[in-house]
Amino acid sequence: MKLIPENQPALVVEDVVKRFNVVSDSWWRRVFRAQSVSNGQNEETASGTGQAPVLRAKRGKEIITAVDHVSFAVQRREIFGVLGPNGSGKSTLIRLLSTLLLPDEGQITVFGFDVEKDEMQVKRLINRVSVDAAFFKKLSPRENLLYGARLYGVPGRVADQKAREILERLGLRPSSYNSPMEDMSRGMQQKVAIARAFLSQPILLLLDEPTTGLDPRSKLEVQSFVNELRDTHDATILITTHDMNEADALCDQIAILDEGKVVALDTPTGLKQLVNRNGRAPTLEDVFMELTGKELVKQEDDLSDFEPEKVLA
Ligand SMILES: Nc1ncnc2c1ncn2[C@@H]1O[C@H](COP(=O)(O)OP(=O)(O)OP(=O)(O)O)[C@@H](O)[C@H]1O
Ligand SMILES: [Mg+2]
Repeated sequence: MKLIPENQPALVVEDVVKRFNVVSDSWWRRVFRAQSVSNGQNEETASGTGQAPVLRAKRGKEIITAVDHVSFAVQRREIFGVLGPNGSGKSTLIRLLSTLLLPDEGQITVFGFDVEKDEMQVKRLINRVSVDAAFFKKLSPRENLLYGARLYGVPGRVADQKAREILERLGLRPSSYNSPMEDMSRGMQQKVAIARAFLSQPILLLLDEPTTGLDPRSKLEVQSFVNELRDTHDATILITTHDMNEADALCDQIAILDEGKVVALDTPTGLKQLVNRNGRAPTLEDVFMELTGKELVKQEDDLSDFEPEKVLA
């Protein structure tokens, strides 16, 4: 039985900030501030200085604001794209949504559950797929998937059947199903990671660059699978990508991130209407260029730096 409040949006992100390399406050200072705030003082007075608390960088490091006052909402059954160049904060945002990191400021709710206060409920409703998915490298996809299914309470026989179907649907050869993961290419491993996320029927799927490193055909297979899932499984999907065409083809709404900030948020058509190209239909690449003055770094399917030991560690 799944208890999902009917009238809640799938995801609400409100003014969220995440910084790295900040020296954390001592525990007694945090307790003092929390108590003062709950007694009605604001952050400034509660800090005891009359000013907002000063953030200190760790020695030899610079404070990085990876997610900078980001707000958006995703409705049920929507495919929501987060597009941005390297380092723009996409993966950090996904880690915040999946409770792997806590926001420094702001609030995130998944079907009305707060990622901080209701962590367990949120974890049950989401599933994250990322390029650095961890597997037991000596085990086969079958063994890894059955292990994953067990963790999510999916019965073995159902999971086995479903995993085979998904992997076949994604174009993985049946013979690979029982071979060790360490013998597989990055693209094949990525497909296993995607299959694992779909085994448990997640309600909100967080896909961090699910098609990076895949050949064009596999890319299309994954994209059509994502579409199918939304249509047949009532799933809400948040997907990050550098690939403008992918975002254009798949997403109902797109947030463009640059240096941790949302610089635009609209439907693909709406975004393209922002840009006037004198007769030529603008692309999302044009939109990004227009908004940021930068080129969106295009990541080629480059496998030369692929280190399976790292991926499988
Ligand atoms: N654990 C961490 N410690 C310190 N800085 C971090 C950490 N994780 C991310 N960052 C920094 O936060 C910023 C955003 O990183 P993030 O990985 O979210 O970007 P991204 O948009 O996913 O990039 P990519 O497209 O390369 O995957 C970068 O400047 C990155 O160096
Ligand atoms: Mg990333």
